[in-house]
Amino acid sequence: MSAKIIDGKKVAQLTRDEVKKDVNDWVESGNRAPFLQVVLVGNNPASDVYVGAKTRACKEVGIETDTMRLPDTISAKELEATIQELNNDDSVDGILVQLPLPNHLSSHNVIESIDYRKDVDGFHPMNVGRLTVGQPSFRSCTPAGIIELFKHYSIPTKGKHAVVVGASNIVGRPISILLNKEKGEEGKATTTVCHKFTKDLTQHTISADILIVAAGQPNLIKGEMVKEGVVVVDVGINRVADETKEKGYSLVGDCDFESVKEKASWITPVPGGVGPMTVAMLMKNTLLAAKKSIYPQ
Ligand code: GUN
Repeated sequence: MSAKIIDGKKVAQLTRDEVKKDVNDWVESGNRAPFLQVVLVGNNPASDVYVGAKTRACKEVGIETDTMRLPDTISAKELEATIQELNNDDSVDGILVQLPLPNHLSSHNVIESIDYRKDVDGFHPMNVGRLTVGQPSFRSCTPAGIIELFKHYSIPTKGKHAVVVGASNIVGRPISILLNKEKGEEGKATTTVCHKFTKDLTQHTISADILIVAAGQPNLIKGEMVKEGVVVVDVGINRVADETKEKGYSLVGDCDFESVKEKASWITPVPGGVGPMTVAMLMKNTLLAAKKSIYPQ
């Protein structure tokens, strides 16, 4: 079998087109355009690239945005005071603090200082908790994007064994919760979450009907570790040295694409798989924040 490609770039474009239309309708009905405040601390080159993609998407769909660049010397107190101001500013609908933060800052404290009603990343414990108990919440953008891809391609999850490799708060844990949901339209899969202490990873990956890999390790998953017909979602974006490229590196996922695609029924490429969906779902969340759809006031 050679896998069919899950085209995240295409589905992300469709999602952005839909958000653009909805933003336009919202503004035509007399509301101001949604506003996303991005906060970028320090000089992480990868964060610069991600924030660039997010602000370009905002412009495309008609969401207004500003990136506040703060020095990596900023204290926790100063950063929290800045976030408080944004929380209290009625012209700000969504607040996104790009991660990772410099080591002296606690991402937990910073995330908790954001008003959960403006937490378009879906990282605040209020949103994570509500997601866990099946209440409306902002959903972390990458997991929400994966669910959207399954919907678009009519890939069923009900009754399947979904194996998640990586237990991060941003991807692994929330996607395992969404896939495991028993009520509603989505999920209904049986989930296994693997992490760096998992013994014999292959024992788990080989039994997966759906394999979500978000470990941040290039070539972690090879063809011999998966079963025939598996649906593979590769969340990894790793820079590996490549002299043939102008930049000196190329982007690869956590799967050995060539060998895994021979066994899989569906697979996401890197780049062009999950990455663009993360950005598109952020646009959706920002519009939801502006409309106060999740937390009516
Ligand atoms: N760093 C890597 N991914 C993300 C994301 O989705 N949101 C934020 N804020 N930071 C990130």
